[in-house]
Amino acid sequence: MKKFLPQALTLTLYNREATEYGVCFMTSEDVTCRVEFTDVRDRSFKRAEVTETERSEYKGMLRHSAVCALEGGKSYLWRVTDGERHTDTFKMNTVDPDCRELSFAVFSDSQDRLHLGKWWKTAWQDALTRFPEIKLCLHGGDIVDNGAKHTMWEKVTSHNKGLFTSVPMLPVTGNHDHVTEKDGVLHPYFNIQSPADKEEALVYYSFDAGEVHFTMLSSGDYDYTERHGLKEAQIEWAKRDLASTDKKWKVVLIHTPLYSPGKYGSHPRNSSQPEALRRQLNGVFAEAGVDIVFCGHDHIFSETYPILRDGRADHMSPYVIKKLNGQYYRLAVSPAGPIHVESGCAGNQDRVIECGEGMDEVSAGYFRDIVETPKGCVSYVAVRVKGNVLSANYVLKRVKDGEDVIVRRFGIIK
Ligand SMILES: [Fe+2]
Ligand SMILES: [Fe+2]
Repeated sequence: MKKFLPQALTLTLYNREATEYGVCFMTSEDVTCRVEFTDVRDRSFKRAEVTETERSEYKGMLRHSAVCALEGGKSYLWRVTDGERHTDTFKMNTVDPDCRELSFAVFSDSQDRLHLGKWWKTAWQDALTRFPEIKLCLHGGDIVDNGAKHTMWEKVTSHNKGLFTSVPMLPVTGNHDHVTEKDGVLHPYFNIQSPADKEEALVYYSFDAGEVHFTMLSSGDYDYTERHGLKEAQIEWAKRDLASTDKKWKVVLIHTPLYSPGKYGSHPRNSSQPEALRRQLNGVFAEAGVDIVFCGHDHIFSETYPILRDGRADHMSPYVIKKLNGQYYRLAVSPAGPIHVESGCAGNQDRVIECGEGMDEVSAGYFRDIVETPKGCVSYVAVRVKGNVLSANYVLKRVKDGEDVIVRRFGIIK
């Protein structure tokens, strides 16, 4: 039988409680589709839970979406069918909403005009092999190089089908993922419940998993007046969202960094956004007890000292070295503000430290660690949260032979 090959097939968490999963894809044919999830032993899908997709038009194609309620902490087989043909069978593991230990990967800036996502595979295959306990993938934005081009989404998702169908992907909007103020492109490609006005096509949302609350902010939701920064509605939402959780750990993801030793944090010509974001968010994050802020956009790795409410780096904050699973990690001890981490890049995007006159972030002493991205390399961060420890691995890999170039181990204990 001929296989069903929907375009840009993605799997995400749908709701804040992490009990429902969103599936989304496009077809060029007018077909009625179903999504089927079943127990790993039911290879013939006889006992499958079947959900018919909702259909809408998107750029001359049919967009299909489904929301599937799944049991937590379980392995599932799943597939998509148009009634006659079906896709390959995929395997995924659901998050246990009450888990005591959670591992997730953070990717960013997989955008890649030359290789259309093929380099990303080096990063995610390593992440899922080295850290098989990973249950979720966060993406810090700039997923494809030109978000308005469906062919780029189609190529990047198909080159990384093994990732997009096996681990729920939770993205935030990067500047390449929205074309104009009104033309964002995450909603068409990911089926995620969002409080943001979908007409504006700018995604921000939050979810819980185990002892971690994730707040996902949208760099697409900029104030395009001279004030810059995020729009007021999103800031107010973030305050309410962070105040509404009693989870032990609070993780924020936003595409544009507040602190970066690269050209988008340190060069005066690009400094208006990071400076506006610091004014808007440093107080919010410190007030809410945010532990760690992941960002992308500058395609390098950086880790700040704890950032205090007034935006200064806390150089007096203590660190300890702790052995976890056979490896040594440098952990910040009960920091008084969040650590900001740029997770590097998952595409063909070499980048260096670039400080400019008037806004020299390195000499300002914000950073505990910096790693530039050399040519031919990709990177990711893998995070494990267990009890009072958040431990992270930054892994930089060479694409041509898959060798590790640099591994950094850091985190927080509280
Ligand atoms: Fe980027
Ligand atoms: Fe960017």
